[in-house]
Amino acid sequence: MSTVGKVIKCKAAIAWEAGKPFSLEEVEVSPPKDYEIRVKIIATGVCRTDAHAMSLSFKEGLFPVILGHEGAGIVESTGAGVTKFKPGDKVIPLYLPQCGQCKFCLSPKTNLCERISKVKTPISDQDLMLDGTSRFMCKGQQIYHFMGTSTFSEYTVVVESSLAKIDPAAPLDKVCLIGCGFSTGFGAAINTAKVEPGSTCSVFGLGGVGLSAIMGCKAAGASRIFAIDINKSKFALAKELGATDCLNPQDFKKPIQEIIAEMTNGGVDFAIECIGDIKVMKAALGCTTVGWGTCVIVGVSVDEEGFTVSPMELIMGRKINATFFGGWKSVDSVPKLVTDYMAGKFNLDALVTYTLPFDKINEAFDLMREGKSNRTVLVY
Ligand SMILES: NC(=O)c1ccc[n+]([C@@H]2O[C@H](COP(=O)([O-])OP(=O)(O)OC[C@H]3O[C@@H](n4cnc5c(N)ncnc54)[C@H](O)[C@@H]3O)[C@@H](O)[C@H]2O)c1
Ligand SMILES: [Zn+2]
Ligand SMILES: [Zn+2]
Repeated sequence: MSTVGKVIKCKAAIAWEAGKPFSLEEVEVSPPKDYEIRVKIIATGVCRTDAHAMSLSFKEGLFPVILGHEGAGIVESTGAGVTKFKPGDKVIPLYLPQCGQCKFCLSPKTNLCERISKVKTPISDQDLMLDGTSRFMCKGQQIYHFMGTSTFSEYTVVVESSLAKIDPAAPLDKVCLIGCGFSTGFGAAINTAKVEPGSTCSVFGLGGVGLSAIMGCKAAGASRIFAIDINKSKFALAKELGATDCLNPQDFKKPIQEIIAEMTNGGVDFAIECIGDIKVMKAALGCTTVGWGTCVIVGVSVDEEGFTVSPMELIMGRKINATFFGGWKSVDSVPKLVTDYMAGKFNLDALVTYTLPFDKINEAFDLMREGKSNRTVLVY
């Protein structure tokens, strides 16, 4: 029986309040309105950003909410006005939209889109559809969307400019990582830092994002790649993916930036912070060389105001930059990244530590918090 035009009842993980585990619930998902698409999610990764959004320290989170922003699925139905998608298309929801018409989308200088350019933090945005309403109900209550994607629901509704159509042969339980972690880390190295052949790099934090940044540094031809983490169980895979030196800051008496500077004749060319820790961001900037060192911030910090940079650090030629979704223009780039993965150009499979049934979502978050997974992919 066709579900088109009808409310679909399905499984979702709801965060009812901050700091509490998810509850698995039956939700009602309304049909897509104009320029919207309802997607059956097949697989979704678990990213640290989801954990930030439900943490007690993130003050802007709205509850109850369906989180999840690293998914892949199949179009179930389309609302009026949708021209680029049809039922059955394989797709990846995009938390960074690309409307194609705003001043940002028309500029090659940024991958931002006006739809999210005015918000203080992108992870508190897109909590409702563009008409200010939700497509999710549970127990008679409206449930907030998250980042315009809400992939922790078996069915979700997204805006047309927040969706990429991908190769129908793509394995969704792997390419879902292109929806966030892989693209962010890889792009941070090649698009934002613009890592050069023969250069030295350091990557702080070896989760799914940092390991992808290592792949990006390697693909860009870096000759030496430092991988830094306080969890040494991350080092073997970092090496496999291209790290030449793995360092645990806790093994040294001196600050890690001094150690790296000593090992590199004054500092690396590029440093990428993939944790979201203010102190580590300072260390990342500090381990770059004077003259031209570039530090790229990827990690999201939710509980602190920011960090100070001395004008001298900049006057001495260091640069600081940050990335959102690895600098990729989402609608244009995601299908190409899927094609590149299918052509064997990079190794997504290595990032997937566990693949679990969706019902084990709380376990997946525990594995991430305990440092036992790089990425867990949940399948419905
Ligand atoms: N800018 C963006 O567009 C974007 C996109 C995705 C994720 N993020 C952010 O990137 C960060 C990384 O995401 P992830 O999913 O890979 O996270 P993760 O939790 O899987 O990995 C973080 C890693 O950092 C390590 N770590 C923690 N504290 C450390 C310290 N003080 N020194 C050294 N290592 C330390 C952990 O052991 C872990 O291996 C998060 O803050 C996330 O919110 C940003
Ligand atoms: Zn993410
Ligand atoms: Zn736009």
